[in-house]
Parts: sequence; C-alpha cells; structure tokens
Amino acid sequence: MTTTPAVLPGSAVPPTLAAQAAPVAPAAPVAAEATGATPAVHLRGLRRVFGTRAVLDGVDLSIPRGEFVALLGASGTGKTTLLRILGALDRADGGTVLVPPVRTVVFQEPRLVPSKRVLANVTVGLPRGGATRETGLRALAEVGLDRHADAWPATLSGGEAQRAALARALVRAPELLLLDEPFAALDALTRLRMQELVGDLVRRHRPAVLLVTHDVDEAVRLADRVAVLRDGKLVRDERVAVERPRDPADPAFAELRRRLLADLGVH
Ligand SMILES: Nc1ncnc2c1ncn2[C@@H]1O[C@H](COP(=O)(O)OP(=O)(O)OP(=O)(O)O)[C@@H](O)[C@H]1O
Ligand SMILES: [Mg+2]
Repeated sequence: MTTTPAVLPGSAVPPTLAAQAAPVAPAAPVAAEATGATPAVHLRGLRRVFGTRAVLDGVDLSIPRGEFVALLGASGTGKTTLLRILGALDRADGGTVLVPPVRTVVFQEPRLVPSKRVLANVTVGLPRGGATRETGLRALAEVGLDRHADAWPATLSGGEAQRAALARALVRAPELLLLDEPFAALDALTRLRMQELVGDLVRRHRPAVLLVTHDVDEAVRLADRVAVLRDGKLVRDERVAVERPRDPADPAFAELRRRLLADLGVH
C-alpha cells in the first residue's frame, strides 16, 4: 500500500500518480504529503454542475485510511456523482479532490463480463503478471466463491455475482473502496450476509471505504461515520457512537437512526 496520495487537481504529483488521476477542471493545486497522517480522501469545496444545477455545491469530506464512511441522501442528491468523481469516472467542476492511486468501485449491479469465467472476471483489472490463478482464487475464497472459479457469470445467483464483484474490487488491494448501493438488489437475507461479509473484509484489509446507501440501518450497522448529502452539501458528518456489535435495539442506535431519518425528511 502506497502512502502517497494522488492529488486532483494539481501539478505537484509524480507522473505515475498523476497518470492515475481523474481529469478534473483546473483549480488551485494542492501539495501532496507522503505522511501516514494524510487522509485517503480529502475533498474541499467540491462542485459538480449539470446544466444550471450545482448537484454538488461545496462538499467537504475527509476519510482517513482504514475508516468506513456511509453516505446517505435522498434520490437524486448527487451520491453517485460524488462516488464517480472519487473513482475518476467523472470530473469535478471545482474544489479540491485528493484520492489515493488505487481505488476500486462496486456498483448496485455486479457488471461481470459474461464471456469471461468468474476467475478471469476477478483478475481482469490486475496488472500483467499479477493476474495469476492463485491470486484470483485467494480473492474468491475470501468471499466464499472459490468453488465457482470456472463458472460462467450467467450461472451465478445475484448474491454470488455481487460477491464476485466484491472479490474483483478487493483483489487489487485498494486504498479506497467505493461502494454504490452494493446490496440494494439483493433479497433481505442475502443483504444481511453481504453486509457482514463486507464488514469482515474491510476490517481485514483496512481500505478507506465510502458506502452509498439508502438503508439507514445498514449505514449505522457498518460505518465508523455517517454523512448525509442534501442540497449539494453534507448536512451531517458524524461518528457512529454505538458499541459493536451494533444492535438496532440499542437506544444509541435508535437515536442516531431517528436523527438520520429526520435529515432525510422522514419523520
Ligand atoms: N451526466 C449527467 N448529466 C446530467 N445530469 C446528471 C448526470 N449525472 C447525474 N445527473 C443528475 O444529477 C443528479 C444527481 O444524480 P446522482 O446519480 O448522483 O444521484 P443519487 O444521489 O446517486 O441518486 P440515487 O439515490 O437515485 O441513486 C440527478 O438529478 C441526475 O439526473
Ligand atoms: Mg445513485
């Protein structure tokens, strides 16, 4: 794991890191600091405008290495837009975006390549030489799918396919793991199992995590911090002060749930 963040935008980054940076519209350069204290994610005044609407209008967010942040917000508030900018899949229109070089994304749907077997899907993003069968099998074993290494994606259940997508994201040892409603399409029981699996894997690998979700209980159960996006800004960014293992019946859990639902306009 490297300790040097890629800086977006900016000029003071080594070419190898700059090459992995997202194309971001010109803004003030930021100095990169190669210290352990540098957060994995550092956003200041992030803006993204579509037409005349500033979907993101001054988002400030820092995620230290190894910290798990859940992002809530009503539909259309810009959560996916924010995640896409962090993943270099979209650009910012202003502000400072600092992210580590190795970032991976898991979306709501697994997005496996149908013409590749499960193992090849998992190792597809690895550099030449790193994509060994052994590496892929190890990642699949972590999500309990090693027996399906030679299966075709079409033969997997929805939960299995999503676990393969998780293995594909983790095999690259990301410093930042971006999760966009990764459990939303799963049935309730599979969703609970997946939440548990992600919690375990994140504790073991310690990437910084940004989980976008509509599920308040999921956010409180998994995250170290919860944030709420509304009107282009974070209106809440709070540490989850509920003891683990987290029990929805815990009064602290219920109290935080109530406040988050109020932020989301649900009373
Ligand atoms: N490429 C684009 N061009 C124009 N408008 C866009 C584009 N991408 C997103 N938007 C708009 O920006 C707003 C935020 O979209 P985004 O997908 O980030 O919302 P979201 O918070 O992820 O919503 P959901 O919870 O429904 O997934 C929406 O109104 C959307 O229509
Ligand atoms: Mg979205």
